[in-house]
Amino acid sequence: MMHYGWPETDESKKMLLEQVRSLARDKIRPIAAKSDATGEFPHATVKTLAEMGLMGMMVPEQWGGAGMDAVSYAMCMEEIAAECASTAVIMSVNNSLVCAPILAFGTDEQKKRFLTPLAKGEKLGCFALSEPGHGSDPGGLECLATPVDGGFKIRGTKNWITNGKEADYCIVFATADRTKGHRGICAFIVDTKAKGFQVSKLEDKLGICASSTAQLFFDDVFVPQDCLLGKVGEGFKIAMSTLDGGRIGIAAQALGIARSALDASKKFAAEREQFGAPIMKLQAIQFFIADMATRLQGARLLTWAAARNKDLGLRYTKEAAMAKLSASEASMWIATKAIQVHGGYGYTKEYSVERNFRDAKITEIYEGTSEIQRIVIAAQEFAELNS
Ligand code: CAA
Repeated sequence: MMHYGWPETDESKKMLLEQVRSLARDKIRPIAAKSDATGEFPHATVKTLAEMGLMGMMVPEQWGGAGMDAVSYAMCMEEIAAECASTAVIMSVNNSLVCAPILAFGTDEQKKRFLTPLAKGEKLGCFALSEPGHGSDPGGLECLATPVDGGFKIRGTKNWITNGKEADYCIVFATADRTKGHRGICAFIVDTKAKGFQVSKLEDKLGICASSTAQLFFDDVFVPQDCLLGKVGEGFKIAMSTLDGGRIGIAAQALGIARSALDASKKFAAEREQFGAPIMKLQAIQFFIADMATRLQGARLLTWAAARNKDLGLRYTKEAAMAKLSASEASMWIATKAIQVHGGYGYTKEYSVERNFRDAKITEIYEGTSEIQRIVIAAQEFAELNS
């Protein structure tokens, strides 16, 4: 079995990793290419992940979760993504963008009612922040939360919502007062069976095809007061701090995609003969492999470092942004080189690197583009200068 670094010296992490690797190899690998081709949501796989505690990994057992740390989460996410990036993002959104904010900001009643079934994987969640006119800049979002008797009425459109079609619960961000800018934004937990909740469009995408990406329309959806997450006006900070954790998950997803592309390239280079010898004997190929492996391990260490900061209760906004920036750009670069190593074969759907290439691209876009990560990193660097 391959080893990638110090966390694997911890016996419990090693055992967990072995279990998740077997699951990924035996249950996910055989169906990943077909799920990508058909775009079918992997319901059975998600059920298996839930049985293993992988849908609410960092939620304490008291609330139905597995009570594990963020380093374990990153390691497991890489394993799942190495076989199927779609399954990985379904898992990542439920863990980081849905369970995490309810755990951090929810009342005990909300934890009992929503978090427990979500963490057990009995229910699935989605996170609705982006809008057609507000992707990188959610501070100016337009979805309205109008106070009414007993709660709020939500009206507006949300875009690019992973798990949007299948979710049972949706964390929705809407403004109760646009004149207050980001300080008017509130977070809500919405039951997707509520009257007025609509999946208005499903995106036809380049990659992560087995996960759904939906546009949602909230047609005056009534949300009771007890489904407000945190306080009125706290929504933007809830969204931002949630995304800090989410970016560790997406970084780890990018690592998995990159690892799959690198492994396939090594295997191919060892078998493929040109000029009378396997192409792994050519220095051009050796240099590709060396650079791919080095970029991957660098990004992995940044991802584990961000996760470790989170586990130690240290600030990790900058570290998570660095991890996501580095891992997603490494992933895209590695997947591109993987196709180059495979030559004409890599450009066909017969080889998994073609799927890696398509799947890697989204990691540079969702949960904050690479440019947004650079903005976050630079802001933190300058803040440190002045502190
Ligand atoms: N944690 C807590 N609070 C934070 C924070 C963080 N990481 N980052 C900012 N804040 C707070 C600030 O302290 C500030 O607080 P005050 O009101 O007290 O001043 C407030 O939030 C506003 O901060 P900024 O002025 O920095 O906000 P901004 O509007 O300039 O935006 C940004 C900054 C980094 C560009 C931010 O808008 C951002 O991250 N954009 C990208 C959004 C994103 O990642 N979207 C992805 C959506 S999810 C998804 O992809 C869908 C899916 O299903 C996978």
